[in-house]
Amino acid sequence: MTLALDQLHGSLSAPLLDAMTFLNEVTARYPDAVSFAPGRPHEEHFDPAAIPRHLERYLRHLREDRGMGEDEVRRELFQYGRTKGLIGELIARTLAADEGLDVDPEALVVTVGAQEGMLLVLRALCAGPEDVLLVAAPCYVGVTGAARLLDLTVRPVPEAPGGGGLDPEALAAAARQARAEGLRPRACYLVPDFANPSGASLPVEARKRLLAVAEEHDLLLVEDNPYGFFRRGGTPVRPTLKALDGDRRRVVHLGSFAKTCFPGARVGYVVADQRVDRGGGRAGLLADELAKLKSMTTVNTPALSQAVIGGMLLEADRGLRAATAGAAEFYARNLDTLLAELERRFPPGSPVGWNAPDGGYFAVLTVPFDADEKALDRCAREYGVLWTPMAPFYPQGGGERSLRLSCSYLTEARIVDGVGRLAAFVDGASR
Ligand SMILES: Cc1ncc(COP(=O)(O)O)c(C=O)c1O
Repeated sequence: MTLALDQLHGSLSAPLLDAMTFLNEVTARYPDAVSFAPGRPHEEHFDPAAIPRHLERYLRHLREDRGMGEDEVRRELFQYGRTKGLIGELIARTLAADEGLDVDPEALVVTVGAQEGMLLVLRALCAGPEDVLLVAAPCYVGVTGAARLLDLTVRPVPEAPGGGGLDPEALAAAARQARAEGLRPRACYLVPDFANPSGASLPVEARKRLLAVAEEHDLLLVEDNPYGFFRRGGTPVRPTLKALDGDRRRVVHLGSFAKTCFPGARVGYVVADQRVDRGGGRAGLLADELAKLKSMTTVNTPALSQAVIGGMLLEADRGLRAATAGAAEFYARNLDTLLAELERRFPPGSPVGWNAPDGGYFAVLTVPFDADEKALDRCAREYGVLWTPMAPFYPQGGGERSLRLSCSYLTEARIVDGVGRLAAFVDGASR
């Protein structure tokens, strides 16, 4: 049987998914290229021998701290599990240590990565065609992709120029505009610290203003913060939106252990403490509604993955921020090296520009030509270096002449080599 693509769901022909497929193909075709493309953690921080240690630590916790007998331990690891997850209390404890958040474990859903969290949150919040999801633009493709899968309407809200992250006044304007069109702006997704892809961070004052705008326009903020611990020296720790929100419950907080533990576990979570009125005097939490949806997607997050992450959280007794200090130093050094090499290779007067994020994995380069798939293919083939075109991160156009550089997956020596190759390519393409 042959299936026509145009008879399958529209997301399968969406340019965004094609762009991601192309990127994966190019990366596979040039395995020896210096790759500034993937937003992956560096593998130096992984040790296979640690997996059984974390698992053992979690089992000890079940037996000793939670007083489980062997039958219960066996059931916990081998059986279908609780839909909301097994390690909610450990996550709540970690959030208290790392972010000063006081989270009720019942308001937590442990998900298959933050990605599943996004899907569940978008599905639950957007009830009909009048609902609009606002997103910081440029935006992480995991969210715009999930919205496309669900046929949701997405409206971009531009980041402020100068690296300040999402512009609260632009959010207010977008919300007003949507209402004027008879639509309901439901939520706004953003990454407040060292965003993917822009590297931008939101100053504390702007965070407070954003919360006020959300209140004024009756929308939720969906906060995603996988890179928050990876600050460059001197950058202050900024409170999360969830922490600043106090008990107003305007913020749905997405969590990922992909960068702070390891992505292969596929464990993330959602803090969804919004009250849901079920009618007839019954009430619950948004987390309970998300769990209902989860029971029809992944049923539960794999117990083994939760057990290993649980063991890591137990070992990181003082929180993950302290436990990842070594990794944070590594990424900060890499970002310093990337920015220093850009300065060296593109001296003043060069038509190339870039931002200087104060942490995270990413920086954005602006170039005087279209940084599209054709350019990427030529750059990989002739210069042995890979990067990510920025255009797919803009839901409604933009970013054609800019590219994302990720410094997380490389050593300093490879970064130096790669920026040299990139400069040779850019010089050639600019002429
Ligand atoms: C902004 C953002 N959110 C979330 C994730 C990770 O999600 P997950 O936990 O599904 O791996 C990433 C990874 O690239 C990301 O950049």
